[in-house]
Amino acid sequence: MLEIKDLCVSYGAIEAVKGISLTVNDGEIVSLIGANGAGKTTTLHTITGLVPAKSGSIVYDGHDLLKTHANKIVTLGMAHVPEGRHVFTRMTVQENLEMGAFSLKDQSGMTKDLDMVFDYFPRLKERRRQLAGTLSGGEQQMVAMGRALMSHPKTILMDEPSMGLSPLLVKEIFNIIVTLRKEGITVLLVEQNAKMALSIADRAYVLETGRITMEGKASDLLHDEKVRKAYLGA
Ligand SMILES: Nc1ncnc2c1ncn2[C@@H]1O[C@H](COP(=O)(O)OP(=O)(O)OP(=O)(O)O)[C@@H](O)[C@H]1O
Ligand SMILES: [Mg+2]
Repeated sequence: MLEIKDLCVSYGAIEAVKGISLTVNDGEIVSLIGANGAGKTTTLHTITGLVPAKSGSIVYDGHDLLKTHANKIVTLGMAHVPEGRHVFTRMTVQENLEMGAFSLKDQSGMTKDLDMVFDYFPRLKERRRQLAGTLSGGEQQMVAMGRALMSHPKTILMDEPSMGLSPLLVKEIFNIIVTLRKEGITVLLVEQNAKMALSIADRAYVLETGRITMEGKASDLLHDEKVRKAYLGA
């Protein structure tokens, strides 16, 4: 379980996150939706130790993440699929995936893990020797997700996986997120695509300029008048 309490994060004078509390229970897909600059990425970066918190707490399976080094957080079973994918463009698909593996020494484990990723993303198998920089945006998203899966995470934090993808590819990526949940992986999904995010999530939080303004069952938020007006273009 991931539990954030009263989290505040600032960049100098800019208060990006202003006292948010949220919980992600094991086995859930929880969405964090909100407009540009709401503080979504900042929240994820604070969870994974890339940005320091000003105050508040983040506890994951009993570990105080604010006192845990970013490198160590991965070993607790938390993987991060960053906004913009950040694949290693001059490395092949396979090399990118191998970078996500726990131990680069265990070759038999590596082969098994690559096969697991290729089961999720057959398209990557065909392109395993292709340089990641030459992949389409959707394929790069698959590499970023595959790389995260290589560490056998219990929880995956995803930052706008749908960004820049065609509706068909968005569906494909979201179907895989649902499959991950079926296999017991917990997902914290940050999205601007509120409609898609709410349609697959169990629960959701709405973040507005650093504050959580709404929370609840995703299906309820999907039908909420305020959410529809602000985020679903209804
Ligand atoms: N490194 C930084 N230095 C200074 N300010 C920053 C930094 N990163 C983010 N911010 C500011 O913090 C606020 C929240 O940014 P954040 O990236 O968390 O938003 P977001 O919800 O992820 O937005 P988007 O949907 O556009 O990705 C914004 O006002 C942004 O300008
Ligand atoms: Mg962001």
